[in-house]
Amino acid sequence: MSIVIEPYANGLKGIINVPGDKSISHRAVMFGSIAKGKTEIKGFLNGEDCLSTISCMKQLGVDIIETDDSIVISGKGMNGLKEPSKVLDVGNSGTTIRLLSGILATQSFSSVLAGDDSIATRPMGRVTGPLKMMNAFIDGRNYGQLTPLTIRGGQLHGINYVSPVASAQVKSAILLAGLNAIGKTKVTEPYKSRDHTERMLKAFQVELNINESSVEIEGAQALTATNIHVPGDISSAAFMLVAGAITKESEITLENVGVNPTRTGIIDVLQKMGASIFVDHDDNATFEPTANITIKTSNLKGITIEGDLIPRLIDEIPAIAVLATQAEGKTIIKDAAELKVKETNRIDTMVDQLKSLGATIEATDDGMIIEGKSHLSGGTVDSFGDHRVGMAMALCSLIADEPVTILNSEAINVSYPGFFQDFTKLKTNS
Ligand code: S3P
Repeated sequence: MSIVIEPYANGLKGIINVPGDKSISHRAVMFGSIAKGKTEIKGFLNGEDCLSTISCMKQLGVDIIETDDSIVISGKGMNGLKEPSKVLDVGNSGTTIRLLSGILATQSFSSVLAGDDSIATRPMGRVTGPLKMMNAFIDGRNYGQLTPLTIRGGQLHGINYVSPVASAQVKSAILLAGLNAIGKTKVTEPYKSRDHTERMLKAFQVELNINESSVEIEGAQALTATNIHVPGDISSAAFMLVAGAITKESEITLENVGVNPTRTGIIDVLQKMGASIFVDHDDNATFEPTANITIKTSNLKGITIEGDLIPRLIDEIPAIAVLATQAEGKTIIKDAAELKVKETNRIDTMVDQLKSLGATIEATDDGMIIEGKSHLSGGTVDSFGDHRVGMAMALCSLIADEPVTILNSEAINVSYPGFFQDFTKLKTNS
C-alpha cells in the first residue's frame, strides 16, 4: 500500500494519546502467560508485533481473551506451556523471537520460530550464543545465527554473561531462561539498556539484584500474576514530538507517555537542540513512570548524539534524523551501528530516503551526519517495510513543498496502528 501526503502549510494543534508501549505490551503478554494466576492488561498495543506475541502464546496453549479495552491471560506457570503443533510465526517482531527463545529454551518440548523476510536477516546469534552457554539446544541457519530457529527445550544452568551489545532483547532472553535454570544468572552490558523486563518481573514478584549495568537473577523462581497498565509508547510519541517541533505555529500535548529513564533520550535530545518542550510528570504512576509532554514549534540547533545516550533513543533515530534536517548546523549521530540490524539497515534507509527529498545527510560506519537547515522537496520514498522509517517519511511531508508519497506505508501498523488518524487530527485542529 502507498499513501500520498499533500504539503501542509498550517500548524499542528491538539492532544494525543499515543498507543501503548510496544516493549511493555510484549512483556506483559509473555510474563502473564508464564505466571500463576490471571493477569489483566490495560492499554495494550494492538499493533502487529504485539499481536504476533499473543498468537505465539496462544499456540503454546495459553488462554488469552482480547476485549475492546483489555487483554486477560490465564497464566500457565513457568512449566505449563504446551508444545506447539506448528511453526511459531513472529511476523516482523524481533522482541517476540528473542524473548520467546529464552522462555522456550527451558521448556520440556521442541519448538520452531520463524518470521518475515526482515526477521530472516536479523542476527539471532546474540541470543542463541548465550543460551547455548546455558546448555540450550538451539539451531538455525548459519550455525544458529539466523531464523528459522529450532529449540529443543531442557534443563539449563545459570551463567555470568558479559554482553558485547547494549540490548534489552538479549538481556531479557537470558534473564527469562535464567528464571527457570539452576543457579544464578548475571548479565552485564556495556551501557544500560531499557529495563522494562526488570521492572515488570518485580511486579510479578520475582527477585532481582540490579546494579548500574548488570542484573542478577536466581533460578527456579515463579511469577505471580498481576495487573498491568501499559503507558503510551515514547517511541511513538517521538514522531509527534518531532512533528510539533518542526512544523510552524504548532502546539501538541501527548498524554500518559511512558518516561522510563532508559527510554527518554529523545527528550534529552530535544532539550539539547533547544526545543520548546515541557514534561509534566505524573506522581501517581506505578511501576513505569509516565508524563504529559507538550511541544511547541522550535528553533533548533545541531548537536552530537553518542555513547550511553544511544541505547536510550535507538528506536527514535529515524525521527531524530528528520528533526536534524530542520536544525541549524551539524548533527552527528555516532556509536549507533546497531541501527544496521533493525527492521531495515536504518542508517542506509534513512540516509537514502532523506537524500532523495533533498536533505544534506551522509552515512557513516556507526551513524550519520546531517547538515541543517535543509529545504525538503516532495517525492516518492519507501518505508521498505520498516514502521519507523514510514513514520519518519510522514514527518517529511510536514515541511516539504510538494506531496510525499510513501510506499509500503502499511508497515506503520507494526507499532502505531492509528498513526495517520492522529496525524490528521493534529492538522484539522489548527
Ligand atoms: C526492544 C529493545 C530494542 C529496541 C526494540 C525493542 C525491547 O532492541 O530497538 O525496538 O523491547 O526489548 P535491542 O534489544 O536489539 O536493542
